[in-house]
Amino acid sequence: MLPTILSLIALSAAKTVVDLSGRDWTLTNQQKNVSIPGAVPSHAHLDLHAAGVIDDPLYGDNSIIDNWVAVSNWTYTSPPISGLHNASTASTYLVFDGIDTFASISLCNQTVGFVDNQFRQWTFDVSPILSSCAHSTPTLSLAFTSALDAANYLMNPTTANNSVSCAECFEIAFVYTGREFIRKQQLDFGWNWAPAYSPTGIWKPAYVVQLAAEGEVYVTNSVVDIYRQGQLNNLPPDQTQPWVVNASIDYLGVIPPNATFRATITSSSGKTLLSGPLANVTSANGTITGSTIVSDSEPELWWPVGHGAQNLYNMTLEVVSSAHGTITSVTKRVGFRTIVLNQGVITAEQQAQGIAPGANWHFEINGHEIFAKGSNLVPPDVFWPRVTEEQFRVLLDTAVAGNQNMLRVWGGGAYLPDYVYDIADEFGIMLWTEMQYSDAVYPVTPTFLENALAEANYQIRRINHHPSLAVWSGNNEVEYGLDIIELVLPSAVGVAQKLYETLFLDVLLNAVYANTRSISYLPSSITNGYLSLNHSAALPMVERYNNLSAGSVYGNSDYYNYDVTQAFNLSAFPIARFATEFGFQSHSSVPTYAPAVPADQLSFNSSIILYRNREYPLNYSDFFSSYSSPPAQLNITQQSLDGLGQMSQATSFHLPTASKHSTMGNFTTQIYATQMFQSDFYRAQIAFYRRGSGQPQRTLGSLYWMLNDIWAAPTKASVEASGRWKMLHYGARDIYKSVIIAPYLDEAGIAQVWATSDLWSEAKGTWNIKWYDWSGNPLGGGAADKEGDVTIGALNSTQVWEFNSTALPFGGHTAVAFLTVDVDVNGTKYSHTNRFFPLPLSEQVVIDAIQDPHLELTHTGENKFSVKSETVAAWVWLEHPDGVSGYFSDNGFWMLPGTQEVTFTIKNDTTNGKWAEGVTIRSLYSLTNS
Ligand SMILES: *[C@@H]1O[C@H](CO)[C@@H](O)[C@H](O)[C@H]1NC(C)=O
Ligand SMILES: *[C@@H]1O[C@H](CO)[C@@H](O)[C@H](O)[C@H]1NC(C)=O
Ligand SMILES: *[C@@H]1O[C@H](CO)[C@@H](O)[C@H](O)[C@H]1NC(C)=O
Ligand SMILES: *[C@@H]1O[C@H](CO)[C@@H](O)[C@H](O)[C@H]1NC(C)=O
Ligand SMILES: *[C@@H]1O[C@H](CO)[C@@H](O)[C@H](O)[C@H]1NC(C)=O
Ligand SMILES: *[C@@H]1O[C@H](CO)[C@@H](O)[C@H](O)[C@H]1NC(C)=O
Repeated sequence: MLPTILSLIALSAAKTVVDLSGRDWTLTNQQKNVSIPGAVPSHAHLDLHAAGVIDDPLYGDNSIIDNWVAVSNWTYTSPPISGLHNASTASTYLVFDGIDTFASISLCNQTVGFVDNQFRQWTFDVSPILSSCAHSTPTLSLAFTSALDAANYLMNPTTANNSVSCAECFEIAFVYTGREFIRKQQLDFGWNWAPAYSPTGIWKPAYVVQLAAEGEVYVTNSVVDIYRQGQLNNLPPDQTQPWVVNASIDYLGVIPPNATFRATITSSSGKTLLSGPLANVTSANGTITGSTIVSDSEPELWWPVGHGAQNLYNMTLEVVSSAHGTITSVTKRVGFRTIVLNQGVITAEQQAQGIAPGANWHFEINGHEIFAKGSNLVPPDVFWPRVTEEQFRVLLDTAVAGNQNMLRVWGGGAYLPDYVYDIADEFGIMLWTEMQYSDAVYPVTPTFLENALAEANYQIRRINHHPSLAVWSGNNEVEYGLDIIELVLPSAVGVAQKLYETLFLDVLLNAVYANTRSISYLPSSITNGYLSLNHSAALPMVERYNNLSAGSVYGNSDYYNYDVTQAFNLSAFPIARFATEFGFQSHSSVPTYAPAVPADQLSFNSSIILYRNREYPLNYSDFFSSYSSPPAQLNITQQSLDGLGQMSQATSFHLPTASKHSTMGNFTTQIYATQMFQSDFYRAQIAFYRRGSGQPQRTLGSLYWMLNDIWAAPTKASVEASGRWKMLHYGARDIYKSVIIAPYLDEAGIAQVWATSDLWSEAKGTWNIKWYDWSGNPLGGGAADKEGDVTIGALNSTQVWEFNSTALPFGGHTAVAFLTVDVDVNGTKYSHTNRFFPLPLSEQVVIDAIQDPHLELTHTGENKFSVKSETVAAWVWLEHPDGVSGYFSDNGFWMLPGTQEVTFTIKNDTTNGKWAEGVTIRSLYSLTNS
């Protein structure tokens, strides 16, 4: 948006755009007698911290101490606004790109309006106010009401006349209740990995805009929709059809009736793909729309990373009139691709290939099925105004370095800034994007729906031109929640389902279909797909819900199992077409905790760590907090431990942490153990879902929970708040390689070895398995070693071997197998090594067998290291010191006796190279030695 504004200023001297951003506002609070400098964009917490009124809000348990900030009503007042024209000759507007959340706005001491949605852009025509204002430099003020008060008011049916209260609404409540009544980031009231700050402020830029009576406009939004002729949402298009480009500009001001709407599309090499006036132009209600068909040349397609180039084009939209010349011009970067979430019925042809009947549930890019490898993305900070583009560039680079091609923009945070999609467009990451609703049943009063529709229209139009946009989902887990309501309070499920369908199938589906032809809509993050789809019906989609046939496979899965004895039981894993969420907690590292946790609190379950652990046993009656009589409580035993208890159970069940020799007293060692279990639990699931691409379920996606952290805490993230990679990020990166080999052990001790590829061409090569004892000696004279040829079909999986782990020709309990696959795909070589051990490493017989590898770490060059081991070394872990950021070429790996070279990709070094001397190394042996 910003470049457009600047060019508008340059184009037309008469037009005035005053940017209200800056630190010269005043933040006041009458009750607390606070009056300090305030900023736009900002949040009250950030301004209070900058003024020294509060300590760093993210430190320790300051979110408790700072509770008064969330409870208070804050007022932001601008400095006198200068540079405005005489009001009688121009139209004057206030434009806010985002206000968080409830505020009464006044200009020149007159009421402008009231806002109640964090996710909308707000514009107000203030011409009458300005013309009657006695001051030439008026003052703007926003008097906020605490979102906690607003939620309380709206959820109370006796106080909220003509508002959104709803007796049938449910929520999973974490800290504050009532979030489903307000259009504010849902995690602001707490989540099972996030603190509850409920911040307040003008969180995005704001402007005063003055325009002449005709021929000057201010662009508020614009949309480009690129699709194959005849394409309909949710259905695979005909790839032989020409591309249609449909574009609109939303604006303030007046465009003369005879203006033309033009488009130019150029490639990165400067070649013009098309240039000229758009056809079928309509102009009404502040929107001009037109379209064209790309017929002269064939655009180069955009592909996700790993499957082709990320070809992008610059598109310039211009409104030109003979009387005023170029009235406005908008440039956006676009791409040509079709992406569809295919939920169609499994065809006879698919069944003939061995795919189980039921329905598809996978993504197709440019007509190709793709395996989505990735994770879930959450807000990187509780205070959005201080989040930077660079932060997201690093985060998305981390995802690409982790062999991920899809991230799910989770529905309990905020719609992401445009620049995140720009980065994803460049990197080739598909962004499954959710409307910001999560784990609640929302009210559907006219006021609420009108607000929801305005929000959806703005956000759908803002993001649509990005080729990285993969799908719109209506929410996070709301449909899944209906199943829990069915269990806990069956009498409520009918009403809940009606509310659910009104918002997510009527209002929001139609909002997507009205604004875009190129993007599929999914009502909720976890579904069994649709039963029918009819674009001409008033309600185009009828959901399948639990209308399932035995022996058929449908939909996607959410899987959390805190019964750690089942962590590696493959028969406990869900069989689905796509795995959307799964995970388990681990601790963050000491360097990540240290800036946020007092030194004397750096231990496994100190009171501050306990406070920052937000995974606590869920009381399912919280779902029904707005019911006057709470229903019977659901007894979910696997949730009876908090996240810290889950972690210690997991490490003592699966790792040598409970052994009599254990050195688990050391926090660093404990952290290492929790990260080891987490990484291996996810690896087992990812391998399982990937193998599913070649099994009847035809699984085509694996997104673990979650990529990143919002603060330094024990969570399910693979990247810590500091950006440091947990062992999971390395482990997932390895098992997300295009071609993998993996062992699958059943409860009878039979292990199958499969090779899997997500490449679009056949892979041919060899595989082998070799056995060793923990000292690193080859076992059994090669009796159980095996090698063979392998051909893996395109996007497929194949079993290469099977053995009985209880009948090996040597003591299998203390043996370790290394498995390798080496293939060639169209001249490119792919290789993967994995390992196998039959028994939990907590068994005393294994502990006794684990040897001291006498690891030696040598710094061999600027960012190069050599690791030497004398035995089998498990989960070899290098930790870099503070002062440098980046990641190792491999980490948390297993090695045989010998040396392994490791390089470090430096992202930022403030130590002048000295960091390399501070790298430490450890392995599994550090949990066992006395
Ligand atoms: C904030 O405003 C609300 C609504 O006007 C009011 O009910 C509440 O008491 C105010 N809070 C404080 C701390 O003054
Ligand atoms: C704003 O209006 C109120 C009452 O309407 C008045 O008391 C106050 O002095 C006015 N403030 C300014 C800055 O004009
Ligand atoms: C376009 O409309 C303007 C008035 O709005 C008029 O002055 C001008 O002559 C028109 N131009 C054409 C080409 O019709
Ligand atoms: C788009 O235009 C910008 C500014 O001229 C340029 O830097 C960029 O490389 C162009 N991108 C493409 C894809 O053409
Ligand atoms: C413009 O807005 C009016 C009033 O909301 C509506 O009746 C009309 O259909 C809209 N026109 C278009 C082309 O959207
Ligand atoms: C313009 O509209 C007509 C009639 O709906 C349609 O046949 C034609 O394809 C449209 N042209 C473009 C470029 O979209």
